[in-house]
Amino acid sequence: MALTGLFLISFLVVHCALNALIFFNDGGVTFNTGAEFMAKNPIIRAMEIVLFIGLIAHVVDGLMVWRENRAARPVKYVMEKGSASRTWYSASMGVLGTLILLFLILHLWHFWVKSRITGLHDYGVDAEGRENLYAVMVEVFQNPVAVIIYVLGCFSLFWHLLHGFKSAFQSLGLNHKRYNGFIAACGTAFSIIVPILFALMPVSISLGWIK
Ligand code: HEM
Repeated sequence: MALTGLFLISFLVVHCALNALIFFNDGGVTFNTGAEFMAKNPIIRAMEIVLFIGLIAHVVDGLMVWRENRAARPVKYVMEKGSASRTWYSASMGVLGTLILLFLILHLWHFWVKSRITGLHDYGVDAEGRENLYAVMVEVFQNPVAVIIYVLGCFSLFWHLLHGFKSAFQSLGLNHKRYNGFIAACGTAFSIIVPILFALMPVSISLGWIK
């Protein structure tokens, strides 16, 4: 779980940075340039397959951990003492992971299917004549329900990362008294900054801050 989790975290860095190009507020020209580079680069295309394998492995591992936890304690404690936070922690990782998975299915339907399967012909081209993936974003985020789902998805991601980042380092034995504080601070900063940046994307488009 830790290895696939850290791999997915590295994807989030790239994905967030690329999508943040919309904040240039230039009608999506810079973002579309980045998206075209990603779509045409054979190394990135290959990494996309690795990404989906990593994602599935992370979900399957998560389900196995959840089952093991349940089998280890088939009868719930009458009174949760001491281990209460641990129980809430494991349960929240499962629930939030499931919410993120549901968000991802909708998200891939919104963007990935259009950009990789059905094509972007219906969306015309941008000011520089490039395929207009940005127009898909503008279309999706005109719907306030979609905006709310994306913001909730980002909140789930925040909470999932807040716990996951630190525990990944712990699981891999990469913890040391001297560096634990630093790792925890990096994890907290990452868990806050990345989901806020992601959430600002649907919010900014729907409020017309970027056009
Ligand atoms: C909330 C703001 C987000 C926006 C505006 C956004 C936008 C996009 C777009 C435009 C694509 C298609 C990329 C392409 O085909 O070139 C995409 C793909 C994808 N997104 Fe997001 N995304 C967001 C958040 C997230 C989050 C939070 C996750 C993961 C938890 C995520 C995971 C993915 C995955 C796995 C793909 C498919 C792989 C890929 O095309 O690179 N996205 N997203």
